[in-house]
Amino acid sequence: MSELSQIKGINARQIKLLQESGVSTAEALAMSSLNVIADIDGLGDKTAKKLVWNARNALGMTEFVAAESINEHVEIITTGSQALNKILGGGVQTGKLTEVFGPFKSGKTNLAHTIAVSAQLPLSKGGLDCAVAYIDTENTFSKDKIMRIAKRFGLDPKIVLTRLYHTRIYSSDHQAQMIQKAENLCKSRGVRLLVVDSLMALMRNEYMGIGMLARRQQVLNNMIHALSRIAETYNCAILLTNQVATKMMGMFAADDAIGGNIVAHGCHFRVMFKTKGFSSNNSLKRKAIIVDAPDLPPEECEFYITSAGVSDSEQGDIPDNDREDIDGFEIETLYEDSEGDELSEAKLTTIPLVNVKGIGKGTAENLAEQGITSIESLLSANPDDLAGKISGLSSKKILEMQENARLLTNI
Ligand SMILES: Nc1ncnc2c1ncn2[C@@H]1O[C@H](COP(=O)(O)OP(=O)(O)O)[C@@H](O)[C@H]1O
Ligand SMILES: [Mg+2]
Repeated sequence: MSELSQIKGINARQIKLLQESGVSTAEALAMSSLNVIADIDGLGDKTAKKLVWNARNALGMTEFVAAESINEHVEIITTGSQALNKILGGGVQTGKLTEVFGPFKSGKTNLAHTIAVSAQLPLSKGGLDCAVAYIDTENTFSKDKIMRIAKRFGLDPKIVLTRLYHTRIYSSDHQAQMIQKAENLCKSRGVRLLVVDSLMALMRNEYMGIGMLARRQQVLNNMIHALSRIAETYNCAILLTNQVATKMMGMFAADDAIGGNIVAHGCHFRVMFKTKGFSSNNSLKRKAIIVDAPDLPPEECEFYITSAGVSDSEQGDIPDNDREDIDGFEIETLYEDSEGDELSEAKLTTIPLVNVKGIGKGTAENLAEQGITSIESLLSANPDDLAGKISGLSSKKILEMQENARLLTNI
């Protein structure tokens, strides 16, 4: 890493301005876009161009090189699950952005916690022996969980906590500010993994409605750009979690990550987590699917959420003597509602009743007269009460309709 002061023609005032904007090395400056630097108060177009170009010259970035001499020094962090590592090509890679998206409770925060610890493992055990920065926008960070995961990996929980730099974020511009700050941590504290859990939560609320979309995408674009620069400059791994929105296409519903193309194209690896498709509702089993990766097949795998993070089995690979500390949570109570995600909620209120087997137009009208206009209200109705109110409809028939409605919505 080269100091800003080594750049030709730079003065102390300019160094200070750049550092305050999170650009603290010659590499970071050289990888910045001219307009971002020119936007820094007190610099201006001409100075920005001179400094960025001089930085690029100094670092040899203004020459083409023979591909033979490219140094692809990729390192890998274990996710805690061998199955997940395998479909990711070994684990979460340095120098790249990895996006994990999925519905509520699909395990994104669990992965974020697990990797915040596993990155601290020695190289021989799948880590980078490095410090970690954790940007928490949903207030779901848990010190307890970190300590349990540390024990699971045989690390000293206290030391793990001292090497984990956490920040709680309250607004999207605060998030942008702390992403810039994280760059300083890479430089001064040897941070090699930056976790953002989650990328879009605050923006989603702040920039509501189509009119705000352009502005939101601009803020997002700057963030993704800053993150890519950090990834490359410090050969740092970046893990972003993202929520999904349900898109209705006729009567089909599909989950898609939010943030659109900017996030999709900005991330090298995109993984979808799913809660669905398992017979047992109180299972902590999850599915991961590679959605996009430059050099990986679109494979999928299963993994588990345990009290000590992401793992290949329900028990996790927790050393027996630590098991007492770690056990003692009940799957049933923690996972009371497997369908609490947006997809099912949307289905319950958006799929018309006539799509349910056994409900024709006439029946739908009769139901509507009783205030039953959605699958949600049909499922919460008492079959006996309802049968008494609609002539020609037995409670047995209503039970059948409810069963068909459940089948349709996977409940
Ligand atoms: N010890 C634990 N404490 C809390 N939740 C747990 C624990 N172990 C497993 N879980 C499960 O993890 C799931 C939440 O996962 P999380 O990673 O927070 O999802 P996401 O971030 O995708 O919303 C819940 O289904 C919960 O039951
Ligand atoms: Mg979460």
